[in-house]
Amino acid sequence: MVQAEFIKSAVSERDFPSKGIPEVVFTGRSNVGKSSLINRLAGNQKLARTSSTPGKTQSINYYLLGRRFYFVDLPGFGYAKAGKSAIQKWKDLIERYFHKQSTIALVIQLVDSRMPPTGIDLQLAEWLDEFQLPRIVVATKSDKLSNNRKSQQSRLISKFMGGRSVVMSSAKTGEGSREIWKQVQLAASEADASKT
Ligand code: GTP
Ligand code: MG
Repeated sequence: MVQAEFIKSAVSERDFPSKGIPEVVFTGRSNVGKSSLINRLAGNQKLARTSSTPGKTQSINYYLLGRRFYFVDLPGFGYAKAGKSAIQKWKDLIERYFHKQSTIALVIQLVDSRMPPTGIDLQLAEWLDEFQLPRIVVATKSDKLSNNRKSQQSRLISKFMGGRSVVMSSAKTGEGSREIWKQVQLAASEADASKT
């Protein structure tokens, strides 16, 4: 099992760790299951805090996995109940985060497997496109779908996401974890290779 530890919580650019370790970023709407997926991939249910109330994660949280890369848990995108100034502050922070680019090996965009991507998901996708970072789409909570619905939803979500392939995933059953790990390893080795 891979060793996983919480490193820090960043609330401003000054808190970002110094460059060097490749980062795998988890982003998507509030409540979509970012923190839960990190816990599942790390094999530790207590690593990142999760909650049924949206808006749980409010800062950028760094976890070190196997001493090899950071898993970065971003606050949920488009959390409607937060005040306007909080949302703006959050946006500024995330924008700064993505602008430092060089250490981001992979962006994992999470969407809910049970529905077509929402306006917020599509807005986020468009925004992420601008940064031109390696990215995969993960559809969460697949345990809630029948096998039939899974393949339907997978096709539908892929269509909305410009034809990208979609990994069906469940933090509950572990579906998709192996494939996500494969993509993470691949991206990390590519990030290593581009440094030499
Ligand atoms: P914010 O931090 O608010 O942005 O949310 P988040 O994206 O980190 O979501 P979180 O992991 O806290 O999960 C939100 C809710 O969805 C919790 O009640 C989880 O138990 C539930 N959940 C997350 N992943 C799954 C899953 O794969 N299957 C099921 N059935 N529930 C899930
Ligand atoms: Mg969270």
